[in-house]
Amino acid sequence: MTWWRPSKKNKPVSVRLDLSNRKTGHAIPRDLYGIFFEDINGAADGGLYAELVQNRSFHYHVFPGDPKWHLHDGRTNHHDPLCSWQLHSRGDKASTLRVDFIHPVHPNNPNYAVIDYFGETRLTNLGYRRGMKLTAGETYEASVFLRLEKGDCENLWLELQDDRGRVLAREGLPEPQSQWQPFQTRLRPNSSTTSGHLNLVIEGNGQLHVTHLSLFPQKTFHGRKNGLRADLAEAIAALRPSFLRFPGGCIVHGNGLANAYRWKDTVGPIWERRPNWNRWGYHQSYGLGFFEYFQFCEDIGAQAVPILPCGISCGFAKPFQSATLDQLQPWINDCLDLIEFANGPATSRWGSVRSAMGHPEPFHLKYLGVGNEEHDSESFRTLFPHFTKALRERHPEIVIIGTSGLGPEAPLAPFMKASGAHITDEHYYEDPEWFVKEADRFDRLTDSLPVYIGEYASRGNRLVNATSEAAYLIGIERNSDRVVMHSYAPLLAHFDFCQWKAANMIWFDDSDLLLTPNYHVQKMFREALGDYWADHSWHSPEPIPAGVRSSVTINRDGATTFLKFSNPSQRPIHILLTLEKPGKARQTTLSGKPEATNRRGKSPELEPHSQDLDLGKDSLVILPANSVSTLTVKL
Ligand code: AHR
Repeated sequence: MTWWRPSKKNKPVSVRLDLSNRKTGHAIPRDLYGIFFEDINGAADGGLYAELVQNRSFHYHVFPGDPKWHLHDGRTNHHDPLCSWQLHSRGDKASTLRVDFIHPVHPNNPNYAVIDYFGETRLTNLGYRRGMKLTAGETYEASVFLRLEKGDCENLWLELQDDRGRVLAREGLPEPQSQWQPFQTRLRPNSSTTSGHLNLVIEGNGQLHVTHLSLFPQKTFHGRKNGLRADLAEAIAALRPSFLRFPGGCIVHGNGLANAYRWKDTVGPIWERRPNWNRWGYHQSYGLGFFEYFQFCEDIGAQAVPILPCGISCGFAKPFQSATLDQLQPWINDCLDLIEFANGPATSRWGSVRSAMGHPEPFHLKYLGVGNEEHDSESFRTLFPHFTKALRERHPEIVIIGTSGLGPEAPLAPFMKASGAHITDEHYYEDPEWFVKEADRFDRLTDSLPVYIGEYASRGNRLVNATSEAAYLIGIERNSDRVVMHSYAPLLAHFDFCQWKAANMIWFDDSDLLLTPNYHVQKMFREALGDYWADHSWHSPEPIPAGVRSSVTINRDGATTFLKFSNPSQRPIHILLTLEKPGKARQTTLSGKPEATNRRGKSPELEPHSQDLDLGKDSLVILPANSVSTLTVKL
């Protein structure tokens, strides 16, 4: 029987916790609790990025490998430049649709649709998955590039439609010219739908060229243009992460060098960005690019932690590719230039790109990750030190995050220490049993660079996963003089388009989102962070069940004490808490059945609940079975 399954011996365990003489320990690092964002599971386009049009510049194309997932109705797949597009016409002769690239709006994003139209013709974008979520009375910003190659255009308009064919909003556009021109308008639907479409409708006879048809809700997170889906961004912001790692994950080093993530392709006007396919087998418009990541960090008060490839493809992708030494400089330049993009004056080459995008002030980049979860190879050992040498020489102010490699054994950690990184990044996905068993593993950490646990999760979104992660987090806090940052992974997953099914922190679809118990643990613990660790010990007449752990931290002013508890066991814990004097407290608890989880379309089974307590010098605090709790005590 596994340790967390119910047994008959579920009697409470009594524990004494005396904080009347607590001793102040190490400072808690400011950047301990962060988040990891990767464009996996449809997290960017069709996810956090608020664009409602899928494949807006007809950029989807055939790429190596065979993605095994298709859209939910099998109507098309991600190899097709016409994915998510349809053409309908009403004239005697059928209008036609094809994709060309002879006269592009911009060479970086060359594709456009060619419509030979005869009579009323409607180009429809179906959006992502089940269609566009459109809300009555809200404003939507539409834009498009058009060029009339030949013929006449009697009428031209954009309209929103629901899946029953009802037109929800309609706005006319002026007649296009023979040169590419951008057009913009606003649409306000008179009724709501979760499966809407956007139509570009033309009447007449001729040939029209179309690209970059786009539709954004006006209400994005912080009202940003080209912005983020408000509900998802708000759920992320509510975690109050100290840092945001982006853009991944394996997406960084790509399947091969051809689709490694090159940040320079992701900045500037959106129609000048160079879309690419990603490590997870689908396309990325790069509309959510490095500028937008930095801006999001600023909006939520998080440090930016960009991770760049080091000229080596993902160790899991075949065939393995690596730059040679004489090909390495552009990869190193990407790192140096990113620092200039983020921090350089608006007059510098890359600072001017940032400034032209509307941010003349620097972004104050402090961290830069080089390489993701690298496998131990001769190429990596040869190339990596060239990055740290260049960065340390040119930018001693930047904290370089290296990689410990794959798994908790951290095979590359000793090499990191020898090759110039400042922090080393560990990744692992293990069972909850492992997280409980290894909750104290950092007590044994010696002779290592400061550790960033860049990716971890206990392979599940049940309460038992969350309680085991809480036990592990308490071990991290206790050792946070050496473990200085961590981020659960992955952050986001679309219910209908998921490549990483084991566990994700926030699930969503085109209209809704679901918070997991793992999310709640991160949020509860971040809210009760504290400035200093406080040494403390437990006394109990009987053995304490596996995974039952506590963290005590105090604020700089000494007036607030934060307690965090994990109890992944089946036994309630009764704590006799002794304080130096009576005070007030707020206890927040997440508890339930170990197998419980929050399910799509159902009201959440697992949510934290808070209660206010009056504490005497000695008080009883109860931790239910299968629970995570925080206690904020004000004396
Ligand atoms: O988090 C999902 C993937 O797991 C990441 O892309 C990769 O770094 C790790 O292997």
